[in-house]
Amino acid sequence: MSIIVETQNLTRSYGATTLALDSLNLQIPQGAIYGFIGPNGAGKTTTMRILTTLLLPNSGAAWVEGHSVVKHPKAVRKAVGFMPDFFGVYDSMKSWEYLDFFAASYGVPAARRQRMIGDLLDLVDLSHKRDEYVMDLSRGMKQRLSLARTMAHDPALLILDEPASGLDPRARVELRELLKELRALGKTIMISSHILTELAEVCTHIGIIEQGRLLASGDVATIIRSLQPHRIFEVHLLSDLEEAANLVRDLPGVLDVRTFPEATSPMIEIDYEGDDSSVSDLLAQLITSGMRITHFAGQHSDLEDIFLHVTEQTMLPIMTTSTAEQSVDKNVAPK
Ligand SMILES: Nc1ncnc2c1ncn2[C@@H]1O[C@H](COP(=O)(O)OP(=O)(O)OP(=O)(O)O)[C@@H](O)[C@H]1O
Ligand SMILES: [Mg+2]
Repeated sequence: MSIIVETQNLTRSYGATTLALDSLNLQIPQGAIYGFIGPNGAGKTTTMRILTTLLLPNSGAAWVEGHSVVKHPKAVRKAVGFMPDFFGVYDSMKSWEYLDFFAASYGVPAARRQRMIGDLLDLVDLSHKRDEYVMDLSRGMKQRLSLARTMAHDPALLILDEPASGLDPRARVELRELLKELRALGKTIMISSHILTELAEVCTHIGIIEQGRLLASGDVATIIRSLQPHRIFEVHLLSDLEEAANLVRDLPGVLDVRTFPEATSPMIEIDYEGDDSSVSDLLAQLITSGMRITHFAGQHSDLEDIFLHVTEQTMLPIMTTSTAEQSVDKNVAPK
């Protein structure tokens, strides 16, 4: 998978006191939906503004499709569509005029614009609002129109700053569906949020940023694996639980075993350390030892847990060696 966005030691401060980005190193693979997650003031908008050439870094470098944001901003602008975290004021424009205006400013010829506007309005489900004034649209509709606007020049990369903020739960679900559709169309999407759960289902990759530094970055499955020192498996059984627990305790990789005889379906819970291949060995051993298993599953941890886990570590005054090793991105230096 090739890399569409890369930053190296990207640094940006505002005035003498605020260091918004502190040697940020990130990579976004082509075709990813990259969730850029961090609390208020972490540096998400600053990163996005640099990647869209609206702001210059103080030092370090960033490339989009191989073009430097500093040296070749025009080429970068062609490759990127940006949805800022505010809508702007375009009150006297109708929806179609709004899209027409942006497409024209990107140099899309008039003959192509009309058809494209229809397609974009269709895509974001606003065809019925084509002739309504932008100011008369609901907030969710404005967000969708703004998303359509980012695609007016058919860029390869969409950078969306908090697109879900202010949306109701249903509109959030619709946004997620739309992002999936855009990905299927071949777009790469970088999307920021501080609400993790809204990204959990849709992202292929995530980067966690805090105080201008990337704490973890990678594909979701790898991050989950690397940040969990051990995994928990639930095994539902027809056999005697205590007997099963005693047998499991002695197997390699097993850290702890708990029994739940009162559960609707009696089970044991195994804290386990090992890769996927040893997990499958574990299961094979359970079965060959005669246990009657009805269900075997790893508990999954969601992005919310990971985020809390990673950011908790940075709350510590000194990052220990073991927590440093857990950082997924090798470029992350201990704080
Ligand atoms: N125009 C500005 N002038 C001065 N400081 C700024 C400016 N823009 C951002 N900052 C500061 O830079 C830091 C990073 O801000 P940024 O807007 O990039 O964060 P963010 O992750 O987008 O936060 P949020 O989730 O609140 O949108 C903050 O400390 C902020 O106060
Ligand atoms: Mg922001």
